[in-house]
Amino acid sequence: MKFKIEGQRVLKGEIHISGAKNSALAIMPACILLNKPVILKNVPDVEDIRTMSELLKYLGAKVHKISKNVIEIDPRDINKYQAPYELISKMRASIYVLGPLLVKFGKAIVYMPGGCSFGPRPIDFHIEGLKKLGANIKIEHGNIIAHVDSFKDAYIQLPFKSVGTTIHLIITSSLLKGKKVIISNCALEPEVVDLANFLNKAGAKIKGAGFDEIVIEGVDKLEIDEYEIIPDRIEAGTFLVAGSFENNEILVKNVIIEHIGPVIDKLLEAGINLKIYNDSILVKGVKKPKPIEIQTYPFPGFPTDMQAQFMTLLSIADGTSIIKENIYPNRFAHAYELMRMSADIKINDNIAIIRGVEKLTSAIVNATDLRASASLVLAGLIAEGTTIIENIEHIDRGYEDIEIKLNSIGASIERIL
Ligand code: EPU
Repeated sequence: MKFKIEGQRVLKGEIHISGAKNSALAIMPACILLNKPVILKNVPDVEDIRTMSELLKYLGAKVHKISKNVIEIDPRDINKYQAPYELISKMRASIYVLGPLLVKFGKAIVYMPGGCSFGPRPIDFHIEGLKKLGANIKIEHGNIIAHVDSFKDAYIQLPFKSVGTTIHLIITSSLLKGKKVIISNCALEPEVVDLANFLNKAGAKIKGAGFDEIVIEGVDKLEIDEYEIIPDRIEAGTFLVAGSFENNEILVKNVIIEHIGPVIDKLLEAGINLKIYNDSILVKGVKKPKPIEIQTYPFPGFPTDMQAQFMTLLSIADGTSIIKENIYPNRFAHAYELMRMSADIKINDNIAIIRGVEKLTSAIVNATDLRASASLVLAGLIAEGTTIIENIEHIDRGYEDIEIKLNSIGASIERIL
């Protein structure tokens, strides 16, 4: 599947931000531990969510789509503790089922998620954390084979503020009745807090989510009728960048402002006009953004998931910008595609030096991962001519109806075979 984008159209109008993919991907596997069905609202209608639904169904859950953004998950018939390659290999977040299956069955066999197009993505922190909780784990024939005789109290110091490990250990610890688990050096991302809010509403005792140290006192029952997922801060950031180009004016609605503080700061530094309301932001584009320096960090730092989109913005800035990627040192595949579109970018290890050019020009480019694809869509929107983006399956993993949303405010994006 490809996108054909006619560039240089003026974008004017309102965009409604969908639910946070990475929150939903944490909350859905947590549902394995519930003892009755739950309705999840504001779930984005994207491919990664469909993959997680398939995985839960494979395990025996009933996942029923009530409407585009509302699903019901009934975990009561989950009867498998094994998740195969075909489902796990599609998406890294599938690893989140390992802990809850271990809690439910005392054993679990889950295929190892691989690396991805932006480099190795190990799971050693996950494994070490689960071991500290009492799990015995070995890797054989590509499978993570885990069993537990009895879970134990644990103090787990994470070597890095890993989002996935924090999420995985919170889920796993929440239903360990009588056990106390302390996780320190936790990720502070809003998706971690959303997961903890969901579990606490279900009866869990999780304190400190959003801070460095999280304390979990295991309970014996988790149940909740319904929960609404937070809006997606990365989707919001992506549309803010779309609105930052000359002549564009977009009201980005359904945003939690505190979640995108560092993105707002960098846009302002680049000279972009922003008007910030309670839960929306009006962005007005400029002819030339100012060059800036960005370093990616765990939350509340500038998110690695917005790095690619900013690279497109800075590719036409009035001077030289620098982006240093501290989370995934190789996450620069988009830079090479942007260069095909006339961008002037040099990569040195984890540093990109972006010299602003007068304009981008259309080309046939290849989407290599989700956020890289978003940066190429943005590039196609401003480039002179007709851009073709190949392999847009990546963008469908995480952006709901991106071309429909952009076309509704003036873009010309066609989905072609
Ligand atoms: N790391 C390890 N060992 C581990 C886990 C992580 O070395 O066991 C390293 C990673 O290689 C990386 C760093 O720790 O260098 C941070 O990784 P983290 O665990 O925080 O990332 P993740 O949980 O795998 C989530 C998001 C990513 C996002 C990162 C960073 C989900 C499903 N994924 O990944 O989102 O880039 O946090 O914020 O929540 C995306 O949405 O496009 C996406 C890739």
